[in-house]
Amino acid sequence: MSVASFFPENIKVALKNIPPGEWIPELPEDCIRLHSGYPAPALVPDEELKVAVTSLLEEEQDLPLHYLGSPKILKLKEQIKVRLEERGISVSGEELLITSGACQAIDLIARILLDEETIVAIESPTYMEALEIFQNYTKRIISIPVDKHGLQTDVLEEILAERKRNGLANPRFLYTIPTFQNPTGTTMTAERRQHVLELADSYNFFIVEDDAYGELSFYKNLPTLKAMDKKSRVLHVGSLSKIVAPGMRIGWITGASEIIHASAWFKKDLNHPFAQATMAVFLANTDFEVKLLTLRDTYWAKCAVLLSALEQYLPESASWYVPEGGYFVWMKIPDVETSEMLTQALSEGVSFIPGKYFFMDQTDGTEFLRLSFSYEDEKEIVEGIRRLGRVVEANL
Ligand SMILES: Cc1ncc(COP(=O)(O)O)c(C=O)c1O
Repeated sequence: MSVASFFPENIKVALKNIPPGEWIPELPEDCIRLHSGYPAPALVPDEELKVAVTSLLEEEQDLPLHYLGSPKILKLKEQIKVRLEERGISVSGEELLITSGACQAIDLIARILLDEETIVAIESPTYMEALEIFQNYTKRIISIPVDKHGLQTDVLEEILAERKRNGLANPRFLYTIPTFQNPTGTTMTAERRQHVLELADSYNFFIVEDDAYGELSFYKNLPTLKAMDKKSRVLHVGSLSKIVAPGMRIGWITGASEIIHASAWFKKDLNHPFAQATMAVFLANTDFEVKLLTLRDTYWAKCAVLLSALEQYLPESASWYVPEGGYFVWMKIPDVETSEMLTQALSEGVSFIPGKYFFMDQTDGTEFLRLSFSYEDEKEIVEGIRRLGRVVEANL
């Protein structure tokens, strides 16, 4: 008996997709990790979290270890509201749901808004796990290109207008990472932000704004789409993974109360009382504005080191976008198949993610790669780029 024959058709279809995590390279020992979108280990507050765990258990004994959880779960919601205020977003309790990271938030949104018939619009390239999630629910995915100013909203408008002329359905939502995008590091301009909100209104779709890197600006912040949203079109997704610790799995969705209500209906994780209560204690003990200054300074310096190493070690034909925040630099090397180059790079002791994994149609991404400056220290970044430069030269 084949157990798989019991799966419904939509699950069988989803299981034919590229397997999750296929893009994670198998690393040789001592490889310099320029592929990892992980926070710098030194910035993950393990000692402070240890203190938070101890004081939580001393104060509440076994309470946060039970189903009932801890009153601190409610406190965390208030603390997240403060973080949202910093992003220009003011919400009520019914408009906010704490999730297990941004990934669960995206999955819940997809689950309640998509089925095989519905259409989702994505940026091209985009965050590959979001792509994996959407492909679990629908094959009807429209890719909208990104340039150095973020999502090309004029192309989006052309596509929407043409679909309307041809009597085709609109997307149910657009998934965008307008600020320090993964993988391109680009930020959508103020004009394009305004434009995409107007399009959502005139073509009647939601916008899922993924703000996972939004607080990691090196210079100034643009208003979030949610802060500009007058018509309740935007579902704003956030996370503490990139600014506190990804293993804590704390993220959120904020948006129209009906969507929050439906998402909560399907979220059967019982709110991870221990993680949420620990995070509440950690946040109560932390001056977050000071913490953010350290994060921004550290990542700005690492980014500057990576960019200057690229100038020094990469051939002239290679080009890249200069990010204004976040974790990533997106590079193009004309006529080089970056996924083939990866094997050689790994044997030289440096990793990256081939661009193809960030595209719905992988052939669009063959000449691109994503580098991350977040994880390694500055010395390793320079050495990693020196090695990468050698590998690129050998492939020209
Ligand atoms: C754009 C984007 N959204 C969401 C996530 C996932 O965040 P979380 O760890 O909160 O699930 C990532 C992590 O790489 C990301 O790059």
